[in-house]
Amino acid sequence: MRYETFKTEQEASQAVATRIAELVSANPRIRLGLPTGSTPLGVYKELIRQHQAGLSFSEAVTFNLDEYLGLSGAHPQSYRYFMETNFFQHIDLPTWNRHLLDGVARYPELECQAYETKIQAQGGINLWFLGIGGNGHIAFNEPGSEVNSRTRIVSLTTETIEANSDGRFFKDPAEVPRCALSVGIGAIREADEIIVLALGEKKADAVFNAIQGPFDISCPASLLQDHANVTFYLDEAAASKLTRA
Ligand code: GLP
Repeated sequence: MRYETFKTEQEASQAVATRIAELVSANPRIRLGLPTGSTPLGVYKELIRQHQAGLSFSEAVTFNLDEYLGLSGAHPQSYRYFMETNFFQHIDLPTWNRHLLDGVARYPELECQAYETKIQAQGGINLWFLGIGGNGHIAFNEPGSEVNSRTRIVSLTTETIEANSDGRFFKDPAEVPRCALSVGIGAIREADEIIVLALGEKKADAVFNAIQGPFDISCPASLLQDHANVTFYLDEAAASKLTRA
């Protein structure tokens, strides 16, 4: 897997935004897969700035990685709400081209299957942009997730529940849903290109395991190692445990 290291969070985020903008300009009908969390915020800010300077998303189609089971899009901690407030409201992406799993779908298993069908109907994902959890999870594929896992209902680990209730998002672990709907690793691996952005020291172990550890379900991000087009964008802190070749 390729990786690029940047001095600061801002520079790494800027580089990801530049790559996404390049792809959107080259293919206005791009199918983009998008993450939530703290990590992509700088990328979304920069893409909004580029949109104000002329970059258009008017023909793009987006699919998000995951959603908490039981939260509707009106809930301030839902990923739908996150995407609307941090990105979609500020660009010209048509509402009908914004796809997220529905956390309050009546039949969540069917919702997951239908989501994959929608991705296929659009012709697949050109670029999945991902963050990474401190335990190596991608989307909500926790350690133990299989390489060919599909979009499904997943249980969150205590570590992930705690990471997402440190005050940035939820204030108390008790408020965090125990389950989520997540695009599977098999579905992520079908994209033409994958970008993983990792920022800060808290991600250094996960980054090391993903890039220089074994291909193993104990680190879900390592299951991208045999994909032909994956690039990790890292700041120096996130790259600090990598051993140079
Ligand atoms: C969450 C999300 C992931 C995200 C990860 C890291 O659990 N489901 O998609 O990559 O956590 O989040 P953060 O960027 O806030 O560290």
